[in-house]
Order: sequence, then structure tokens, then C-alpha cells
Amino acid sequence: MKIAKFSRLGFILAASGSAVGLGNIWKFPYITGEYGGGAFVFIYLITISLIGVTILLAEMLIGYMGKADCVTSFENLAPKNKGVWKYGGFMAFSGLMILTFYSVVIGWIFNYIFKSFSLPNSISESESQFNTFLSTDITTQLAFHTIVFLIVISIVVRGIKGGIEKLNLYLMPTLALILIGIFFYALSLDGFSQSFDFMFNLNWDKLSSQAIIIAVGHAFFTISLGMGAIMTYSASLPKNVNLFKSSLIVVVVDTAIALLAGLTLFAFLFEFGSEPAKGPGLVFISLPAIFNELGGLGNILALLFFISLAFAGLTSAVSLLEPSVQYFIDRFKLNRVKATLLAGSTFYIIGIFTLLANTESFSKALTFGSKNFFDWMDFTTSAFLLPLGGIVMAIFVGFIMQKDRVKSILEPQMGRNSFNIWYFVLKYIAPLAVLFVMLNELGVISLTE
Ligand code: PHE
Repeated sequence: MKIAKFSRLGFILAASGSAVGLGNIWKFPYITGEYGGGAFVFIYLITISLIGVTILLAEMLIGYMGKADCVTSFENLAPKNKGVWKYGGFMAFSGLMILTFYSVVIGWIFNYIFKSFSLPNSISESESQFNTFLSTDITTQLAFHTIVFLIVISIVVRGIKGGIEKLNLYLMPTLALILIGIFFYALSLDGFSQSFDFMFNLNWDKLSSQAIIIAVGHAFFTISLGMGAIMTYSASLPKNVNLFKSSLIVVVVDTAIALLAGLTLFAFLFEFGSEPAKGPGLVFISLPAIFNELGGLGNILALLFFISLAFAGLTSAVSLLEPSVQYFIDRFKLNRVKATLLAGSTFYIIGIFTLLANTESFSKALTFGSKNFFDWMDFTTSAFLLPLGGIVMAIFVGFIMQKDRVKSILEPQMGRNSFNIWYFVLKYIAPLAVLFVMLNELGVISLTE
């Protein structure tokens, strides 16, 4: 059966749609706040342009040349030991694990869209509303988790062209417009210059080694690296696409949106005298209270902001599901409907447990050691599975695939010098840097203290 491929623009939008997600608008600003601003942003930018782009290009290449689900692509491209290398495709399932909490958070965002017109009067009220919602309101959270599940499967079941490409074609430009609009409003606030300073002033004394680890980990998460989303999308690329350019565009778009979101949120925070370090509650706690100060305009801003956040989340969520769906289709010969239902219900059901892990009634039962189930899912994927996927791909393209094959595709696209630099970074710098960070996050070695 001939599978419809992406158009070039469709691929760029879908890959950017995967990259631009909750990571950019929700997580990036709050970790920037927590880890001290400018110097953290600087480290993040270096990592993403050196290691991020390098491995992203490798991931695109594997998909583009392997032309199948992750497992089969590794198998197709390994010159020997195919039976071993196919396990590189484990990453197709990391997305399902991420979805178990990602879907729950998109559910919270949906809830906040509906709350845009009844904003809290103060930060403390906002905080207690958020905490009560998370810890006691199982019904609403479950309803929204279910809605997210239904939306995501109804897109993915329509396939790459009719579902994923179309979704991104509408949602991505809308999302960009909304964010740019709010950004221009933020530009007019007095808090903006403070926000700019906070994000770009290189205050090295605030930089901890922990911040470096977080910056590297986030670089992976934010460009959707190491879990086969970009690989699976790249398997549906038309011929003669410039992978090098595509990977650069994705990283530039992703970074631009993260910086835009950061500048905007901090401008609001400084304008209304809040502290930048508010943790994960930044978007759900501080922002609604601040919007409330702006009266009617604030309601509209809140509505638009949460809609754009939901759009960002949904375009990433479909990319988290697609790798496992494609795997079930290629390896088990399931049709797309069955494959989507199987993969979808897996994350949906496990997602119920991640959701319950934050609630009063179930948190005890769902806490294992130092973390609850929700945090374990987050931690296992970002600290372990994504970096591991990145290392595997870097080694695979750098050491296992024949250099001539890799070169014949990429050198014409990037020129000889860039190719040589890229190949060197891919072989010797990227895997070691990522390994180092991963071992640190897992506590095997310790850079911090
Ligand atoms: N990149 C997405 C974000 O920033 C999350 C994601 C990770 C999506 C991995 C797909 C794969 O929110």
C-alpha cells in the first residue's frame, strides 16, 4: 500500500509542531526562572545548537533512509547485526510514556481555557485553586484527559497526510500568531526591559552545575529528540528534501518560540511584581492572577494564551503517539485504526494512574520511593530514555552506518567542511556529553557536590 507522504512545508510544520510544545511555553520559562536567567539561557542555546542540531540531523537521516517505523529503520540500515540494532527502535515507546503525563497536563490547560473568564484575585487564591484542582478534582481531570485522548487518536487515525499534516497546517500558524500578538502587548509593558535583562544578562555567579544538567536535558525534550517522533515523521518525507536545512529550521523555530514565551511571561511577572522563580506553577498559578489585574483585556489574554498552549501541546502529542502506531502497523500488520486504538488506549489507561498520583486519595498508593508515579514517568523519560535514544542514534550513524552512505546524502546538502565538523561532533562530542549528563541525572556520578 502506498502511504501518503508529507509535503515539504507539511513536514517542516509537523516537525516544528512536535518540537514546539509544553516544553517551550510552560517548562522553559519556569526552569529559566529557577536556574537564574541569562547564563542558563546561554548554556541552553549552546547545547541546542551544538548537540541538539547534530543529533536531530542524525535522527532525521535514519528515518529518511530507513523509511519505516523506528525498529524497522534501524534494521534496514544496520550493515550487520540487524537483530541487535533493531532494539534501537525501543524509542518508539518512549513517546507513549511521555504521553501518560503530557496528556494530563494538556487536560489542565483545557480546564484553564474554560477558567479564563473567572480568574483568581490573588496569587495565593490562584495557588490554592490550582492545588485543589490537582489534588481533589478527579472528575474534571479525567474528563479532560479523556478529551485529549479522543482528539489525539482522531487525528492520528487519519494518518500522516490527512491527520497530522492538516492539524499542523492549521494549528501552527495560529499558535505563532497568538504568541506574537501577546508578545507585542508585553513589549509595551514597563516590565519588558527587566524581562529582557533577566533572560539575556550573563550572570555567571547564578549558574550552578545542576543548571547545566537541566539545560542539556531540556534541549533534548524541547526539540523532541531521542524518542523517534522526528525519525517516524522523516520516514514519510518526499525525495530530495534538504535534511540539514530542515533540522536547522526546526531548531530555530523551537528556540524562537521558547525565547518569545519566556520574554513575554517574565514581562508580565516583572510588571506585576512577581518573582520569576515560581516553578511548574508559573503558568497555572502566577499568570492567571496577573491576567486578572488587567480586567477584561486580561480575560481575553488568558483565553488566547491557554488556547495557544493547548495547540502547542496537541501538535506535540500526536507526534508522541505516531511512532508506536507506525510500529504496530509495520511490524504487526495492524491497520491504522487498530494500531491507533491499541497505542492510544495504552497511554490513556496508564495516564489515569499518573493523574491519580497527584490526588489526595491516591497519592500514597502511587508514590514509590522519592517520587510519585507522575514524576517517575517524567523523570524516566527525560533523564534516561531520551538521552539514551540520543546516544544510540549518534553511535549508530557515527560508527555503524557506512560513512559513504551518510556522506553521499549529507555532504551535498551541507558542504564538505560542515559535514566533517558535524560528523566529528556526532561521533566524539555529542554521545560523551549526553552520557555524562545522563549519568549525572541518574545519580551515578555527581557533578553537583
Ligand atoms: N518537544 C515537546 C515539547 O517541547 C515534547 C516532546 C518530546 C514531543 C519528545 C515529542 C517528543 O513540549
